[in-house]
Amino acid sequence: MSKNIIILCTVCIVTGMMASVIQARPAKRLDERTQMCRILNEGKLDWESEPWGRGGQKFQEVCKSCHSRNNDKGAPFLHAESKMSNGWNRVFAKRRAQCAKDGSWGVLSEEDLQFVNDYLFRNAAWTYDPYDADSCG
Ligand code: HEC
Repeated sequence: MSKNIIILCTVCIVTGMMASVIQARPAKRLDERTQMCRILNEGKLDWESEPWGRGGQKFQEVCKSCHSRNNDKGAPFLHAESKMSNGWNRVFAKRRAQCAKDGSWGVLSEEDLQFVNDYLFRNAAWTYDPYDADSCG
C-alpha cells in the first residue's frame, strides 16, 4: 500500500517537473529598439514566432539563404539554437554583424525583423531551461 503511494508521488513529481520545463519557454521579449514588451505566447505573435509563422518563414527564406550548412557565401551555419535568447536580442538590437551592415537584411521590413527576432528568441538554445526565460515583465 505505502509502496503504491510512493510510486504515485514519484509519478506526480516527475510529471510536474516536465510540465514546468515545458512552460519555461520564454513568453515575453523586450525589444530594445522599440522598447516594446512583446507577448509571444498569445494571439498573433504566438503564431508568428513559431517556425510556420512569419518569423520562422522569413528566417528560412532570408537568413538561411546564406546561413545554411556548407554554404558558399562565407556565412557561418546558423539556426535558432546557435545562440541563447538574449544573444539573439543583441544581434537585432546592435546589428553589428557584417550582413546587417551591408544591406543583406534589407529585404526585410522592421516589422519582419521583429518577427524573426521573436522566432529566434523563443526557440533559442536553452529555452527549456527555467532559469533562462522572459526578458521583460
Ligand atoms: C547575403 C548573405 C547573408 C544573409 C541574407 C544574412 N547573412 Fe548573416 N552573415 C553573412 C556572412 C557572410 C557573415 C559572416 C561575416 C564575417 O565573416 O564576419 C554573416 C554573419 C552573421 C552573424 C555573425 C556571426 C555569428 O555567428 O554571430 C550573425 C549573427 C548573422 N550573420 C545573422 C544573420 C541573420 C539573423 C540574418 C537574417 C535576418 C542574416 N544573417 C542574413 C551573410 C548573410
